Amino acid sequence: MEILIAPSILSADFLKLGEQIRMINNSRADLFHLDIMDGRFVPNITFGFNIIKQIKSIAEKPLDVHLMIEDPDRYLQDFKNAGADYLSVHYETCPHLHRTVDYIKNLGMKAGLVINPHNPVELLSDIVNVADYILIMSVNPGFGGQKFIEQTINRIGKLKNILSENNSTAMIEVDGGVDLSNARQLADAGANILVAGNSIFSTRNPSETIAEFKRITNEQ
Ligand code: DX5
Ligand code: ZN
Repeated sequence: MEILIAPSILSADFLKLGEQIRMINNSRADLFHLDIMDGRFVPNITFGFNIIKQIKSIAEKPLDVHLMIEDPDRYLQDFKNAGADYLSVHYETCPHLHRTVDYIKNLGMKAGLVINPHNPVELLSDIVNVADYILIMSVNPGFGGQKFIEQTINRIGKLKNILSENNSTAMIEVDGGVDLSNARQLADAGANILVAGNSIFSTRNPSETIAEFKRITNEQ
């Protein structure tokens, strides 16, 4: 399967947001990754529905919305209304994860489960068969530009085994500290979607960097 690249808007220049969305439209990127933080589950606050709606109005690729908020059930319908196509919730925020996944799918979105670096991926064994994708955090969530946690490579391998043991076709997404130096290794380990913020937007030509990510991860 082709490796998908999801630029994280968190690292974009918000004074030029429209321009940056169009740049991604015209690039080889596959998804827009949007990070929603509430200042409670994670120590940072980002943006909400109004910004998502405005991005949606010009985006030509699906919106992959990553919720880092407490009690996400309260807002699932609002994220659908704002334009989310993929919606992921943290294992750590959902006491009734099956119900939350059903709710997301019934709203017509792809449902993702996110797991923090300290939690064993085995915790998801009994629910992987209902998820559309699993997002492995490769940094502690909250900020862009952090250092990649190496242990993630082993975690992807373990998760791959869990998926096949449970007949799950869920995709594996990796988020945090992904760059051109580790992208190929992540793809080889079994990742299907790579999120990248700082390593795309800090470069002189982000569109060319996205193309480089696609080349590195998809060449035979
Ligand atoms: C971190 C967010 C990430 C972040 C990744 O909590 O979930 O999506 O934007 O940024 P980089 O690629 O810079 O680590
Ligand atoms: Zn994210």
